[in-house]
Amino acid sequence: MNASRDGRLGDRRLLRVVYSAEAIQRRVEEMGREISGAYAPGADILVLGLLKGSFIFIADLVRHVPIPIQVDFLAASSYGKERVSSGEVRLVYDPEAPMENRHVILIEDIVDSGTTLSRVMPLLSERGPASLEICTLLHKRVAELDWAVRWVGFDAPGDFLVGYGLDYAEDFRHLPYIGSI
Ligand code: IMP
Ligand code: MG
Repeated sequence: MNASRDGRLGDRRLLRVVYSAEAIQRRVEEMGREISGAYAPGADILVLGLLKGSFIFIADLVRHVPIPIQVDFLAASSYGKERVSSGEVRLVYDPEAPMENRHVILIEDIVDSGTTLSRVMPLLSERGPASLEICTLLHKRVAELDWAVRWVGFDAPGDFLVGYGLDYAEDFRHLPYIGSI
Protein backbone atom coordinates (compact mmCIF):
# COMPACT_ATOMS: atom_id res chain seq x y z
CA MET A 1 0.00 0.00 0.00
CA ASN A 2 1.17 3.50 -0.83
CA ALA A 3 2.34 5.27 2.32
CA SER A 4 2.46 8.67 0.61
CA ARG A 5 -1.22 9.25 1.41
CA ASP A 6 -0.35 9.16 5.12
CA GLY A 7 0.08 12.91 5.27
CA ARG A 8 1.98 14.37 8.21
CA LEU A 9 4.32 11.60 9.25
CA GLY A 10 6.94 13.55 11.13
CA ASP A 11 9.83 11.18 11.71
CA ARG A 12 7.51 8.20 11.83
CA ARG A 13 7.17 5.86 8.87
CA LEU A 14 4.71 3.10 8.37
CA LEU A 15 6.66 -0.15 8.51
CA ARG A 16 4.02 -2.50 7.21
CA VAL A 17 0.31 -2.95 6.75
CA VAL A 18 -0.89 -5.32 9.45
CA TYR A 19 -4.63 -5.42 8.61
CA SER A 20 -5.79 -4.28 5.19
CA ALA A 21 -8.95 -2.24 4.79
CA GLU A 22 -10.60 -5.31 3.20
CA ALA A 23 -9.62 -7.65 6.05
CA ILE A 24 -10.94 -5.17 8.59
CA GLN A 25 -14.23 -4.76 6.76
CA ARG A 26 -14.75 -8.54 6.56
CA ARG A 27 -14.09 -8.99 10.27
CA VAL A 28 -16.20 -6.01 11.35
CA GLU A 29 -19.12 -7.37 9.34
CA GLU A 30 -18.78 -10.74 11.12
CA MET A 31 -18.61 -9.02 14.49
CA GLY A 32 -21.81 -7.13 13.74
CA ARG A 33 -23.54 -10.44 13.06
CA GLU A 34 -22.11 -12.02 16.22
CA ILE A 35 -23.35 -9.13 18.35
CA SER A 36 -26.79 -9.15 16.73
CA GLY A 37 -27.15 -12.86 17.44
CA ALA A 38 -26.21 -12.55 21.09
CA TYR A 39 -29.27 -10.68 22.33
CA ALA A 40 -32.92 -11.67 22.69
CA PRO A 41 -35.37 -10.00 20.33
CA GLY A 42 -36.45 -6.63 21.68
CA ALA A 43 -33.42 -6.25 23.98
CA ASP A 44 -32.69 -2.62 24.86
CA ILE A 45 -29.09 -2.23 23.66
CA LEU A 46 -26.76 0.75 24.08
CA VAL A 47 -23.47 0.70 22.17
CA LEU A 48 -20.91 2.98 23.83
CA GLY A 49 -17.79 4.00 21.93
CA LEU A 50 -14.72 4.94 23.93
CA LEU A 51 -13.27 8.08 22.29
CA LYS A 52 -11.34 8.84 20.37
CA GLY A 53 -9.82 5.60 19.11
CA SER A 54 -13.06 3.72 18.51
CA PHE A 55 -14.72 6.29 16.27
CA ILE A 56 -14.16 4.57 12.94
CA PHE A 57 -14.67 1.05 14.27
CA ILE A 58 -17.99 1.88 15.92
CA ALA A 59 -19.21 3.71 12.81
CA ASP A 60 -18.54 0.65 10.66
CA LEU A 61 -19.67 -1.87 13.27
CA VAL A 62 -23.12 -0.44 13.96
CA ARG A 63 -23.92 -0.46 10.25
CA HIS A 64 -23.60 -4.26 10.42
CA VAL A 65 -25.94 -4.58 13.40
CA PRO A 66 -29.43 -4.90 11.91
CA ILE A 67 -31.28 -5.10 15.25
CA PRO A 68 -32.41 -1.90 17.05
CA ILE A 69 -29.63 -0.29 19.09
CA GLN A 70 -28.72 3.15 20.37
CA VAL A 71 -25.25 4.70 20.12
CA ASP A 72 -23.42 7.05 22.46
CA PHE A 73 -19.80 7.80 23.35
CA LEU A 74 -17.68 8.34 26.39
CA ALA A 75 -14.27 9.88 26.84
CA ALA A 76 -12.06 9.16 29.83
CA SER A 77 -9.40 11.51 31.09
CA SER A 78 -5.89 10.19 30.59
CA TYR A 79 -3.56 10.36 33.53
CA GLY A 80 0.14 9.61 33.34
CA LYS A 81 0.90 5.99 34.17
CA GLU A 82 2.35 6.90 37.58
CA ARG A 83 -0.91 8.53 38.58
CA VAL A 84 -3.12 5.63 37.61
CA SER A 85 -5.68 4.63 40.15
CA SER A 86 -9.14 3.31 39.43
CA GLY A 87 -10.58 5.82 41.92
CA GLU A 88 -9.14 8.74 39.98
CA VAL A 89 -10.91 8.30 36.70
CA ARG A 90 -12.90 11.18 35.31
CA LEU A 91 -15.14 11.11 32.29
CA VAL A 92 -14.48 14.16 30.16
CA TYR A 93 -17.53 13.27 28.13
CA ASP A 94 -20.15 11.41 30.10
CA PRO A 95 -22.86 9.81 27.96
CA GLU A 96 -26.29 11.25 28.50
CA ALA A 97 -27.95 7.94 27.72
CA PRO A 98 -29.28 6.16 30.81
CA MET A 99 -27.80 2.69 31.42
CA GLU A 100 -30.01 1.26 34.12
CA ASN A 101 -31.53 -2.07 33.07
CA ARG A 102 -30.13 -1.73 29.56
CA HIS A 103 -27.70 -3.99 27.73
CA VAL A 104 -24.53 -1.93 27.39
CA ILE A 105 -21.67 -2.78 25.02
CA LEU A 106 -18.43 -0.85 25.49
CA ILE A 107 -16.52 -0.46 22.22
CA GLU A 108 -12.71 -0.17 22.40
CA ASP A 109 -10.18 0.22 19.61
CA ILE A 110 -7.42 -1.80 21.25
CA VAL A 111 -6.81 -3.48 24.59
CA ASP A 112 -3.17 -3.27 25.59
CA SER A 113 -2.35 -3.04 29.33
CA GLY A 114 -6.03 -3.05 30.24
CA THR A 115 -5.66 0.16 32.23
CA THR A 116 -8.38 1.96 30.32
CA LEU A 117 -10.86 -0.86 30.85
CA SER A 118 -10.04 -1.20 34.52
CA ARG A 119 -10.81 2.49 34.97
CA VAL A 120 -13.97 2.70 32.93
CA MET A 121 -15.73 -0.59 33.62
CA PRO A 122 -16.38 0.04 37.35
CA LEU A 123 -17.94 3.41 36.48
CA LEU A 124 -20.29 1.81 33.98
CA SER A 125 -21.23 -1.14 36.15
CA GLU A 126 -22.21 1.26 38.97
CA ARG A 127 -24.95 2.55 36.72
CA GLY A 128 -26.88 -0.69 36.91
CA PRO A 129 -26.92 -2.03 33.36
CA ALA A 130 -28.79 -5.30 32.75
CA SER A 131 -25.58 -6.55 31.14
CA LEU A 132 -22.22 -5.00 30.36
CA GLU A 133 -19.99 -6.43 27.63
CA ILE A 134 -16.73 -5.35 26.00
CA CYS A 135 -16.12 -5.39 22.26
CA THR A 136 -12.68 -4.49 20.94
CA LEU A 137 -11.28 -4.48 17.44
CA LEU A 138 -7.78 -5.43 18.61
CA HIS A 139 -6.46 -7.26 21.67
CA LYS A 140 -2.76 -7.49 22.40
CA ARG A 141 -3.38 -10.30 24.93
CA VAL A 142 -0.74 -9.04 27.34
CA ALA A 143 -2.93 -7.98 30.23
CA GLU A 144 -4.50 -9.96 33.04
CA LEU A 145 -7.96 -8.42 32.97
CA ASP A 146 -10.63 -8.40 35.64
CA TRP A 147 -13.21 -8.13 32.86
CA ALA A 148 -13.88 -10.69 30.14
CA VAL A 149 -13.70 -9.27 26.64
CA ARG A 150 -16.69 -10.78 24.85
CA TRP A 151 -15.92 -9.80 21.25
CA VAL A 152 -12.41 -9.44 19.77
CA GLY A 153 -11.75 -8.55 16.14
CA PHE A 154 -8.12 -9.61 15.94
CA ASP A 155 -5.42 -10.80 18.33
CA ALA A 156 -2.87 -8.07 17.65
CA PRO A 157 0.92 -8.25 17.56
CA GLY A 158 2.89 -6.32 20.18
CA ASP A 159 3.91 -3.62 17.66
CA PHE A 160 2.61 -0.07 17.98
CA LEU A 161 -0.33 0.08 15.59
CA VAL A 162 -1.90 3.05 13.85
CA GLY A 163 -4.79 3.71 11.50
CA TYR A 164 -8.53 2.98 11.48
CA GLY A 165 -8.92 5.26 14.51
CA LEU A 166 -5.64 4.40 16.24
CA ASP A 167 -3.19 7.26 16.56
CA TYR A 168 0.41 8.06 17.23
CA ALA A 169 0.39 11.57 18.79
CA GLU A 170 -2.97 12.18 17.07
CA ASP A 171 -1.64 11.33 13.61
CA PHE A 172 -2.67 8.38 11.41
CA ARG A 173 -6.24 7.97 12.71
CA HIS A 174 -7.72 8.49 9.25
CA LEU A 175 -5.99 5.57 7.51
CA PRO A 176 -8.48 2.97 6.26
CA TYR A 177 -6.05 0.18 7.14
CA ILE A 178 -3.99 -0.63 10.27
CA GLY A 179 -0.22 -0.53 10.10
CA SER A 180 2.73 -0.63 12.45
CA ILE A 181 5.21 2.20 12.87
P1 IMP B 1 -4.58 0.12 27.68
O1 IMP B 1 -5.24 1.08 28.61
O2 IMP B 1 -3.10 -0.04 27.94
O3 IMP B 1 -5.28 -1.21 27.52
O4 IMP B 1 -4.57 0.79 26.25
C1 IMP B 1 -5.73 1.13 25.65
C2 IMP B 1 -5.60 2.44 24.91
O5 IMP B 1 -4.24 2.79 24.64
C3 IMP B 1 -6.28 2.27 23.57
O6 IMP B 1 -7.63 2.64 23.65
C4 IMP B 1 -5.45 3.16 22.68
O7 IMP B 1 -5.97 4.47 22.71
C5 IMP B 1 -4.07 3.14 23.29
N1 IMP B 1 -3.20 2.14 22.63
C6 IMP B 1 -2.74 0.98 23.14
N2 IMP B 1 -1.96 0.32 22.27
C7 IMP B 1 -1.94 1.09 21.14
C8 IMP B 1 -1.31 0.94 19.85
O8 IMP B 1 -0.63 -0.04 19.51
N3 IMP B 1 -1.53 1.96 18.97
C9 IMP B 1 -2.28 3.06 19.27
N4 IMP B 1 -2.89 3.22 20.46
C10 IMP B 1 -2.72 2.26 21.38
MG1 MG C 1 -5.29 6.58 21.92
